This record gives sequence, structure tokens and C-alpha cells, in this order.
Amino acid sequence: MSETEILRFTTAGSVDDGKSTLIGRLLYDTKSLFEDQVEAVEAASAKRGDEYVDLALFTDGLRAEREQKITIDVAYRYFATPKRKFIIADTPGHTQYTRNMVTGASTAELAIVLIDARKGVLTQSRRHAFIASLLQIPHIVVAVNKMDLVDYDEQTYLAIVDEFREFVSKLDVQDVTYIPMSALVGDNVADKSENMDWYEGTTLLHHLENVNVGSSRNLVDFRYPVQYVLRPNQNFRGFAGQIASGRIRPGEDVVAFPSGLESKVKAVVTTDGELDEAVVGDSVVITLEDEIDISRGDMLVRKGNLPQKSNQLDATICWMGETPFNPQTTYVIQHTTKIARAMVSKLNYRIDVDTMRRDETDKLKLNEIGRVQLTTTEPLFYDRYALNRQTGSFILIDPHGNNTVAAGMIRGRSQDVDDLLADERREDDRLTRQRKRSENIVWHAGALDLEERESLNGHQAAVLWFTGLSGSGKSTIAKLLERKLYEMKVHTMFLDGDNLRHGLNGDLGFAPADRQENIRRTAEVSALGFTHGSVVLCSFISPYEADRSFARSLVQDGRFVEIYVKCDLEVLKRRDTKGLYAKAIAGEIENFTGISAPYEEPKNPEIVVETDLESTDAIVERLVTLLQEKGII
Ligand code: ADX
Repeated sequence: MSETEILRFTTAGSVDDGKSTLIGRLLYDTKSLFEDQVEAVEAASAKRGDEYVDLALFTDGLRAEREQKITIDVAYRYFATPKRKFIIADTPGHTQYTRNMVTGASTAELAIVLIDARKGVLTQSRRHAFIASLLQIPHIVVAVNKMDLVDYDEQTYLAIVDEFREFVSKLDVQDVTYIPMSALVGDNVADKSENMDWYEGTTLLHHLENVNVGSSRNLVDFRYPVQYVLRPNQNFRGFAGQIASGRIRPGEDVVAFPSGLESKVKAVVTTDGELDEAVVGDSVVITLEDEIDISRGDMLVRKGNLPQKSNQLDATICWMGETPFNPQTTYVIQHTTKIARAMVSKLNYRIDVDTMRRDETDKLKLNEIGRVQLTTTEPLFYDRYALNRQTGSFILIDPHGNNTVAAGMIRGRSQDVDDLLADERREDDRLTRQRKRSENIVWHAGALDLEERESLNGHQAAVLWFTGLSGSGKSTIAKLLERKLYEMKVHTMFLDGDNLRHGLNGDLGFAPADRQENIRRTAEVSALGFTHGSVVLCSFISPYEADRSFARSLVQDGRFVEIYVKCDLEVLKRRDTKGLYAKAIAGEIENFTGISAPYEEPKNPEIVVETDLESTDAIVERLVTLLQEKGII
């Protein structure tokens, strides 16, 4: 069966918002239950005089049995339609929902967040969506349930959708679908409701059957954590495991980690014989051309496509232990098939899932989510979770009780915490306050991150912001510097006030609000250039401190270089290369900076250059030195 014919999804709901009923309804309407189960439940409902079959009994009945045996309570349920097979990771909506959701969702491609139409968006609904975004589940369905109890009122539904949309726009989720339904009555679950004519979207089942799956599976980066070394006799040595991501064929060059030794794939074997190709999810045995030393916990990857290596990791963890996180404890870390020891060297903050605030703390309790820096006794060969859910995740195990106390997602190598927090605060600011944002849009992470682009370019990205009066020499210096950087093989981009006013900013004049908008747009463009790895040179009068600091806020600390190009106003009036000062003085141009409009001098520029005192060559040289000192080039 091709993987696109299977959809793995998870359900999350608060107590009583109808999750069991919804799952029961899906099983019931798709005829996925045994006859005797159906009869028993129908009889039980009739006996209680219920108007409807109590669908929740299908799932709740099973749960009671389970609870005695299973500690991490995720039940997998299966159902099918002619179009697809479905696997539901059902995570009970009690107090341990976060933990359960994290466990159940590791391979899920869709999450259903249930909302009771009478209660609206609750903290827990937000929490579920947040966790789904954290786990990078690509699709979310917001099931606005119990519509029958609000008289199928469209306004009630729309208000919930609006509120949720506002919240979700702050998260990194790609696709959110809203469906009004009544699981109890069966409206819009498998069958289209006759009670909600105003709703023109699909039913839940139709959506589940048609949503695009497979997008979260990494088919590119071959990662093969070795589970067992098989050596049945002297002539055969194979490595058993499950392909965590990517694909592999016989004849391909591979590297084993941690040893770094290279070989070629001789054969990919299963119980059915040898394969031409194996892909993510396949359990296989791989044999190699050479006898190289490999043991359990090692990883085979394709030569030329290597994972990251570090024993210092920056990660998000969800605490699942009954006892809170203790910074004194050394935990066991399991990463793919590898086991090592790990210390949480720093707990940066806890995310308050209700408000999305980052709180400083030294504790993480059950279900809480935090950002941590980990140190492991041996280096791990990992990928960022954003790129690879398998090699980007790990669990922490309490060495004494032997139970799982945390699930983690790797964000990258450890970072300096102060920088990190400053960065995130700025990110918060830009998301919440200063930045403009359209309605109903979501942010998509790019395919490459800055680190990758910078390593390709061989230098850091930066924004060099030249500010100063008209005619002070900003563009002259910027252009000379750009030429110099080009010779040094630095990737640059040049944004000039006069030039941008020929196009992008051609609709703007020189009144304060226009200048502000001029700089806002330019700052956004410079930030785009920055995220693409360039050294962006911007030459704008930019007379207002607030606008310049907005531009600064869009890039990382240390990468915004404000260059105040200073020149005495009297000198400028005399030079007047463009003849504008004369016109301004004659009153022919309004709002002319320095004459009839203000210029706020930079308070803390990275560097001040004085074009009436220094030669341009000397200035450019000073700028190059500054960039070198800052490690940018
Ligand atoms: S800013 O103030 O909005 O940052 P910007 O750098 O884009 O200005 O454009 C400045 C250029 O526009 C000047 O170099 C000058 O050539 C031209 N200009 C035309 N009118 C004005 C004016 N009233 N004030 C300043 N510059 C002007």
C-alpha cells in the first residue's frame, strides 16, 4: 500500500467536548466496528432511553481496560474507507493531554482540535494547536462540535473561527481547516449536515480522505540508525534497522557514524529478498562491501549528505515526568537507537502555552514545555526537528525509575542564551507590535535556514544601514564598499533611497508618514535580503530614530551596522551636487531634511564617518575593518 493511502492523525480535546463521540461516529459511519460491538452499544443506549446511540461507549469502553496496563495512554484505532486507511492516535483529554499528545503525534500528519461550540475557544484548544505546531503536524482541523446545542447558529461558529484564527496566526502551522459539526447527530462528520446550509465546506471525513499526506516525511536525507548487527555466520554481516528518513539503493556510498568510516551498500535485504530501493519507514537489513566496525546505535548515512554532530544541543522539551525536572540529575537520552547520558545545562524558559509568554523558571512540571540547552556525554548525529522528525527528536529517561520523563525536539546546536532570548524577544516584538501583517495569513518556514546559507556563502549576513543628510556621501561610500566586498567574494545587495523611490517606494513623498513608510518597506526588504544570506547595504536619509530602530529590530543582534555618515550642513549647502539645497532654501521644495524637516542624529551608531574630514578610501577601509572585527566577513 502506498503511504499516501494512509493518514495518521491525532485527536485532542478537553474533557467533555465530545472526542470519544467523534471517534465513535467515525468508526460507526465508516462501518469499522464489529456487529456485536454495535449491538451492545445500541442496546445500552436504548436501555438508558437515549435518543441517540451513545457513540462514546465504543471508545470509552475500551479505555477502561487499557488504563490498568498502559502508562502512556495512547490508543491507536484503525478504520478505512475505499479511499484511504486511517490510524488515529487517540490521546485522552484529561490532565496529561500534553504528554499524551506529544507521544501520540510523533508520526501524525493531521491533528483534530475539538472545540465545544457552547464554550468557544478555551485555553486547552489553544494549547492543542500550539503543541501541534510545535510538533510540526502539517494539518490542523478545528472541529467546532456540538453545533446542535447552539441551534446550528452560523454567528456562533464564525466567532469561534475568528478567535481561533487570530491565535493561530502567531503559530507556525501551514494549514488549518474549520468544520462546524455535531458528532452526536452526525452533522458534517461523514455526511453533510442538513442543518447548516450556510456552511459550504467539506465534511470531516471527506477532508480526511483528501488532505495531502506525506509532506512531513523526509524522503531526501538518508538516515539509518542501526538497531542490531546480524552475524549468523562468518560470511554474512548485516545491519538491521528501520530507515528513519530518505531512501537508499545498493551501490550507493555510505558513511558510518560515529566512526566516519566509508563503504558502499552491497545489498538491501528483507524477508522477501533483495530490494532495488528502500525508503523511509522500511525495516531492512543492509550489507556493506567492506568490513567496517559498526554497532547498535551507530548511524549509516549517504556520503555527501551528512547529519549535524554535536554534544551541545538547543532543544524544546515537553516534560512528562511525574516529578519535576531536576537540574542536578543526569538523564539517559535516547536518540534514534543511540543511548547516551545527558545533562540539562540550562533551562532557558518555560512557555506559558495559554499566553505564549516565555517565563523564566528553574522548574518544569508535568505537561510543561520548555527551551533547554543539553550536554550529552557523547556527540549525537542529528538533524534539526524542522527538517527531520526522526533524527531531530529524542526522549529523556530517568535512570532510576527507568521511565520516560521528557520528549524533545532538537532546534540546533547550543546557543548563547542571552543572545537567544534577545533574539526571541525581538521576534515577539516584530510579530506583535511594530510589524504590519495582513489578515488570515500564516508564516512558512523556509527550506534553508540562515546558518545553511551563510555556510554556503562563506560569510555572515548583515544589514549595513547608512544614514545621514542628503548629499552627505552615503551612497558614494556604500557603492565603494560594495565593490570592495565583491572583490572579497561577499554576496551583497544594495538598496538606495533615490533608486527605491523610482519603483517600490515611488508612491511616497517626504512628509513624516511617507518617510516612515519608506523606511518600513525598505527595512522589510533588507530583512529579506538578510535572511537570504546577503550583506545588505541601505542608503537612506532615514531621519527618524524610531524608523531606524525598527529596521534594526528585524535582524539578529550584532548584524545591524548603523553607519552615521556625517557632514557639516554648511559644507553640504556649498557642495549641493543635486542643487536641492538651493531649491529648498528658496522654498521650492517642502520638507527638506536639514532645511525644513528634522534629522534625528543616531544615538548609538556602530560607527560615525565624517565625509568632510576623511577621505572616502579611508572610510571604506575603516568599514571593512569593522566588518572583519565583527566576524561578518
Ligand atoms: S528618507 O528621508 O525617506 O529616508 P530617502 O533617502 O528615501 O529619504 O530619499 C532622499 C533623497 O530624495 C534625497 O537624496 C534627495 O535626492 C531626494 N529628495 C527629494 N525631496 C526631498 C526632501 N524634501 N527631503 C530630502 N530629500 C529629498
